[in-house]
Amino acid sequence: MKFILATSNLGKIEEINSLFSGTDIVFEGLDLYPDLPEVIEDGDTFRENAYKKAKTVYDHTGVPVIAEDSGLEVDALGGAPGVRSARFAHDKATDRENIERLIQELEGVPPEKRSARFVSVFCMCSDKEERYFEGYVKGHILGSPRGTSGFGYDPLFVPDGYDRSFAELGPDIKNKVSHRSMAIDKMLSYFGRSDSGR
Ligand code: IMP
Repeated sequence: MKFILATSNLGKIEEINSLFSGTDIVFEGLDLYPDLPEVIEDGDTFRENAYKKAKTVYDHTGVPVIAEDSGLEVDALGGAPGVRSARFAHDKATDRENIERLIQELEGVPPEKRSARFVSVFCMCSDKEERYFEGYVKGHILGSPRGTSGFGYDPLFVPDGYDRSFAELGPDIKNKVSHRSMAIDKMLSYFGRSDSGR
């Protein structure tokens, strides 16, 4: 079954392809569809942004689309950076700049108040329906980055039940416990393949 995965984020494409390995679902990236209009992710919720991306690509291609929006919600910051996670430091911020901004925002916040969660929302658009699959993982934010694996805020995020960051834990453990894998498990169940090989 072919879907367009509406993202140009290489980290995400790699993760999702590894999570779907062993199934017959094939994702094509947006690189194969270079003439699509740019989608501005200006929604107030992950759902709104995921829908906007999926619907725009579906309307222009007629191919079933799955789009994800995701981000980090930090309790001490009232849920920020949230839908602005990729642009927390500024509109064209690198992961490094976003990490620096988060460290600054949480300076002086004690360990017990550094709780956070990653959220992932997938929207599927096809001729038949629109459907959402959501996942999250709770944890806390470190005072300085640790580890080299993954992307985004991985070096600062320690999932509950572990004492190492996602960037230290590496893809095998991250893919078992992450917000994205929870949402993808729901998708796999929906498609009737609950055994994702994990
Ligand atoms: P978007 O979903 O492409 O709009 O971007 C989400 C942003 O949230 C990413 O650029 C990262 O900064 C952050 N993010 C989402 N998921 C993860 C993750 O699994 N690890 C680290 N950062 C993440």
